[in-house]
Amino acid sequence: MDVRDLTGATALVTGAGSGIGRELARALAKRRARVAIGELDEARLREAEADLRELGCEVLARRVDVGSRSQMEAFAADVHREWGPVDLLVNNAGVGLGGAFLDTTIEDWEWITRTNLFGVVHGCHFFIPEMAKRGRPGHVVNVASAAAYAPLPAQSAYAATKFAILGLSVTMQAELRNKGIGVTAVCPGFIDTPIVERARLRGATAEPATRQRTADFYRRRNYGPERVARNTLRAVQRNRVVAPISLEAWGLYYASRFVPGLLRWVNGQLARQLATEK
Ligand code: NAI
Repeated sequence: MDVRDLTGATALVTGAGSGIGRELARALAKRRARVAIGELDEARLREAEADLRELGCEVLARRVDVGSRSQMEAFAADVHREWGPVDLLVNNAGVGLGGAFLDTTIEDWEWITRTNLFGVVHGCHFFIPEMAKRGRPGHVVNVASAAAYAPLPAQSAYAATKFAILGLSVTMQAELRNKGIGVTAVCPGFIDTPIVERARLRGATAEPATRQRTADFYRRRNYGPERVARNTLRAVQRNRVVAPISLEAWGLYYASRFVPGLLRWVNGQLARQLATEK
């Protein structure tokens, strides 16, 4: 799909109230798409809506929990009634969960799977059939993570959802290609957004000093969500199926392919270090 000028096109972004989703919505607005945004947090939703309108964008904003089947169904019905099928679907909404497997509860698993995996499944389920019917080029972006191919210790549940998104995306792209719909799994590295402050943390990672250190690390890395937005649209333009975003995401991508043993050794060291912090 050509995303250089999106005049007349409809885009949809979930989790558009903050971070990567917010910057993606802005980037799409600047390319003159009309943008539907879904977001769980009402205040963030309204702020993003006002921001997009200021850019001259036509906006449809709904408070929606992507993990809720009925809310996503209603959101899709609204968008289709108002604007028809979307051209570019961005399943971005996601949450963070840090903690070793032994510190992670079943409720934590249900919580993260509901948003990170079912949020994407709901987006695909309720929006892609209408895209496929209308016979125009379209594109689906699923925001995964570098953790989808090179997870760090204390990421088992988060990584499981991101591996799933990668698997879903790679499979779907083969199925949707002949319908003119491309699929990209975006895999960012460490991006400076509030995700760490908002993440659920368990075990050693939950120590206030460890959370602060992690948040500081993301801040110091200084790779902003606007760069993720720019590189995501570049990947869509090139119809990439898997799109590592940032230097570390590319490094981990190649390391996972060519030196997986080295990655496992590094992870072992990191896991040991984390265990001693307890
Ligand atoms: P963020 O916390 O800045 O933004 C996420 C937005 O999604 C928030 O506005 C939040 O309210 C919304 N949200 C959360 N649960 C929702 C739900 N159930 N329904 C609707 N909206 C919901 O986080 P960030 O960093 O922008 O994350 C966006 C995506 O990027 C996530 O899928 C995350 O896993 C992924 N990602 C982030 C990385 C990072 O380093 N920040 C790295 C790799 C992937």
